[in-house]
Amino acid sequence: MGNLIKKKRKKKIALIYGVTGQDGSYLVEFLLKKNYIVHGVKRRSSSANTDRIDHIYDSINFKNKNFFIHYGDITDSSSVFNIINNTKPNEIYNLAAQSHVRVSFEIPEYTANTTALGTLRILEALKSLNLFKTKYYQASSSEMFGKQKSNIPQNESTKFYPMSVYGVSKVFAHNTTILYREAYGIFACNGILFNHESPRRGPNFVTKKIVQGLVRIKLKKQKVLTLGNLYAIRDWGHAIDYVESMWKIMQYKKPDDWVIATNYEISVKKFINLCAKKLKINLIWKNNAEKEVGIDKDLKKTIIKIDKKYFRPGEVDYLKGDFSKARKQLKWKPKYNINSLIDEMIKSELNFHEK
Ligand code: NAP
Ligand code: GDD
Repeated sequence: MGNLIKKKRKKKIALIYGVTGQDGSYLVEFLLKKNYIVHGVKRRSSSANTDRIDHIYDSINFKNKNFFIHYGDITDSSSVFNIINNTKPNEIYNLAAQSHVRVSFEIPEYTANTTALGTLRILEALKSLNLFKTKYYQASSSEMFGKQKSNIPQNESTKFYPMSVYGVSKVFAHNTTILYREAYGIFACNGILFNHESPRRGPNFVTKKIVQGLVRIKLKKQKVLTLGNLYAIRDWGHAIDYVESMWKIMQYKKPDDWVIATNYEISVKKFINLCAKKLKINLIWKNNAEKEVGIDKDLKKTIIKIDKKYFRPGEVDYLKGDFSKARKQLKWKPKYNINSLIDEMIKSELNFHEK
């Protein structure tokens, strides 16, 4: 492996933490197309966690000679240090996190250890190894804006008011990234990304849960979809557009912090209505609050219910991003809109059931 790395030294080397996740999988594809050598870190698990990257990498056939996988964990300083020392990357993308907001209330310490301290471990490794030329990307989040009464849309100057352990942990990571930039001169950047989805989104995030649920209901493989707060508003983009912004952030002439969004927001309920319409489900709503139900008017059946267990102790009601800085300086803008995003997610779900 050492020789191989030396032989290909002229290519840029990227190291991705969180390579098995939604964004990590799209980022590998993007960087390989840009002719990078890509190292990804996967954690040990008792069942397969490489579904999203198996089409690029497999340990038996080595489909791609420029893509390497290492076992590691962002909670283990020695592994972070060793992987960075062995790969000597030009760019590190830290996408690893316990990324589920509601789950962060259930495993708060683990969330902080991964999502907050993980960032510190990588930046400390860069400092200790004197790798001051390695660029660092931090996956910051619009969840940091949290409770905003009047600051809509949110931009790089909006004050953070996190409403979850996840959000608080991301604020720590965000500020640590700025600290290492200012204190040690590391090219460390924050991409403050608003919600972004795709067919590869984890099944317990709301967009995927809705698309998966409604497609199954349409195909008569599921009877009811049970959800939480239908009135939260989000600015949803596509992960493919957003990984491109990560790379652009790292190529900019100086390290900085950037809001990445679409500037178009809808509620969870509107997202459901759009999906239902595309699937030709004649959906009507009845009752309020926890008794609210979605009914298939043609079949006269309740297909959507509310369950309190999906509500959060702290909720973020309204997120809408102002990405003017990225549009102007990075020349970045999203190619997908909410309709093309949903179309792609539905198509992929239908294809899955056709197989
Ligand atoms: P995701 O699908 O949940 O992926 C998270 C990745 O982190 C997975 O590869 C996961 O590994 C890995 N990971 C978790 N704990 C780890 C640990 N202890 N050590 C090493 N790796 C670990 O998340 P995503 O949607 O791709 O998001 C990528 C990043 O952007 C995350 O940091 C997220 O918080 C942030 N973010 C996401 C959004 C969004 O809307 N998607 C918006 C803003 C910011 P396993 O596959 O083994 O679980
Ligand atoms: N997950 C989930 N499941 N959310 C639900 C449900 C449900 O059954 N019902 C309603 N919701 C509401 C949540 O209360 C929230 O207001 C909204 O749908 C979106 O929830 P998620 O899809 O879980 O995303 P999130 O906004 O909490 O967090 C995502 O975006 C952040 C960026 O703002 C994650 O990807 C984070 O990692 C990311 O940082």
